[in-house]
Amino acid sequence: MPSNSTPNFLPILLLFTFITSIQSDPDIISDYITPSNFTIINSTFFTYTGLRTPFHSNPPTFTVTKATLTEFPALNGQSLLFLISGTLEVAFVDNKNAIYEQKLRTGDMFIFPKGLVHYQYNRNHENPAVAISAFGSANAGTVSIPNSVFGSGIDDGILAKAFKTDVATIQRIKSGFITNP
Ligand SMILES: *[C@@H]1O[C@H](CO)[C@@H](O)[C@H](O)[C@H]1NC(C)=O
Ligand SMILES: *[C@@H]1O[C@H](CO)[C@@H](O)[C@H](O)[C@H]1NC(C)=O
Repeated sequence: MPSNSTPNFLPILLLFTFITSIQSDPDIISDYITPSNFTIINSTFFTYTGLRTPFHSNPPTFTVTKATLTEFPALNGQSLLFLISGTLEVAFVDNKNAIYEQKLRTGDMFIFPKGLVHYQYNRNHENPAVAISAFGSANAGTVSIPNSVFGSGIDDGILAKAFKTDVATIQRIKSGFITNP
């Protein structure tokens, strides 16, 4: 063995760099990625209905249905909601204040781009809806807008100005929340 072992280190370092770079998809730096051949982006783009069939009819043979970037291009860099029972009305608002609404059926998937205001509503009170949220992070946090705004102790006068209303109205809304001191 030659005493100078430096050349042996180089391939090992490169290998580690390579392994690190293939562990996960890179974070995206926009709310969502628009494929180059898509001209209209509406709520249909953020919805995947290809998995409805196995939920509504039994396939006669073993069947694999994919939901990858090819079938569901909106998936790029995103987390998603997967409705496994019931129905759910969902929507999010993008940074241009456009709303993307969808009525999901069992088996549907929907993308909420990270950090955008959104809701999920089960209008059918007789039937519970069950959905799985899958996040790209092992420790994803959530922020409830009503709680953050009206339950966090922000000054009533500031809220009244922000919502273009009076302090009494703000206090009436706040009365429905447990306010932090
Ligand atoms: C965009 O291109 C992909 C891959 O070629 C194709 O599967 C998809 O249908 C196209 N979408 C539109 C809206 O043209
Ligand atoms: C969304 O755009 C597509 C065309 O890309 C159209 O077929 C579809 O009806 C639109 N959906 C909504 C909810 O506007």
